[in-house]
Amino acid sequence: MKIDTTLDFARQLDGQDPLAKMRSHFSIPKQANGEDEYYFTGNSLGLQPKLSRQYVIELLDDWQRHGVRGHFEGDYPWMPYHEFLCRQSAKMVGALAEEVVMMNSLTVNLHLMMVSFFRPDGKRRKILIEDHAFPSDHYAVESQLKHHQLDVQENLLLWAPRNENGIQEELLNHDDLYQMIEHQGEEIALILLPGVQYYTGQVLDMKTITEKAHAKGIRVGFDLAHAAGNLVMKMHDWQVDFACWCSYKYLNSGAGSVAGCFIHQKHAENTDINRFAGWWGHDKKSRFKMENDFKPIATAEGWQLSNPPVLSLAAIRGSLDTFDIAGGMTALRQKSLKMSQYLMELIEAELGDGIRIITPGADAERGCQLSLMVTVEGLDGKAMFDALEKNGVTTDWREPNVIRVAPVPLYNRYQDAYHFVRILKECLQ
Ligand SMILES: Cc1ncc(COP(=O)(O)O)c(C=O)c1O
Repeated sequence: MKIDTTLDFARQLDGQDPLAKMRSHFSIPKQANGEDEYYFTGNSLGLQPKLSRQYVIELLDDWQRHGVRGHFEGDYPWMPYHEFLCRQSAKMVGALAEEVVMMNSLTVNLHLMMVSFFRPDGKRRKILIEDHAFPSDHYAVESQLKHHQLDVQENLLLWAPRNENGIQEELLNHDDLYQMIEHQGEEIALILLPGVQYYTGQVLDMKTITEKAHAKGIRVGFDLAHAAGNLVMKMHDWQVDFACWCSYKYLNSGAGSVAGCFIHQKHAENTDINRFAGWWGHDKKSRFKMENDFKPIATAEGWQLSNPPVLSLAAIRGSLDTFDIAGGMTALRQKSLKMSQYLMELIEAELGDGIRIITPGADAERGCQLSLMVTVEGLDGKAMFDALEKNGVTTDWREPNVIRVAPVPLYNRYQDAYHFVRILKECLQ
């Protein structure tokens, strides 16, 4: 059926949207003319929840009022502050509360997890990642190999999109990965992949990947930077060994805010696992005895190093409460799929051959983000991105050739998607 391309239809969809009211829980940046920006960059930096602002200000007030006693006084004392976030953060990735802790930042957590779960042994010493992994992940993995005095060329396996007869595909083909696991599985110690590929928006089949890797004795970790707050996931049930994510994208907790870390119960309870240690990971009852015998907490908290930045945790708490007000990820995912489907159909109807969507179309293979390539002869994608920006549309540009646009169910409207396509059409013309 042909999609209705009118603004009235977009408004009608907004009128029927049970989550439309969630937009009022966020501060929406303004254009120069005072109107709301068309903001599609929740995949890079989520917008500010009003509750986060409130909780950060309350925390500053507590500091003013209590000084050092703020560690123990007030409604949300700082000493156990990270504990207030475990249950809700766990829900975001389908985990038990004991399996999740908010700490450090994403790349730091990837390193900490590799310290524990990349244990090269005999001929099993390779790490498999995807060829176009986010550079920070790639650097982290290479440096871990070097740390173990392993040759990077020999021990880094790259899963790449196909290139057949000179035609370069953009998407990863799972069959290729399964072949690599089948044929080289005994040599692979760790598979580290994204839940959602940052450039193409492709969602990977985390459940099957974990099953196939475990069948060959391989540990599996996921970088959920683009998946947390975007997809419904089941880290615990899928038996994933570990996962890490940042909180500033779909989790709306502010630039550089504290990151998340999941360690499966079967490992989290094992205090013998090798790890880098710090006092915040030490048994809470004896932490202040100031002794030198490190006893890790038998949950994900046992991987903490330092006492955390509570201002950032307050922002995260505001964001997680906002997710709860929305009714959680299942309802949000439903809206997200509907909204991205609407956007895809509108792009196809209005922009035709001028834009190619490289993100897969199937529901299970895409999240909020659509990655677009400008295919009009003589038109430069980066110039289109700049033109969108000048016209009140915030998207993001990723080298070499992609405009990423992410309608986020918490605060985007169907009307935003309509205006995005309208303005892009004008720019293309
Ligand atoms: C997939 C992915 N991995 C890693 C990073 C690096 O994150 P951080 O700077 O918080 O360590 C990012 C940042 O955007 C990312 O998107």
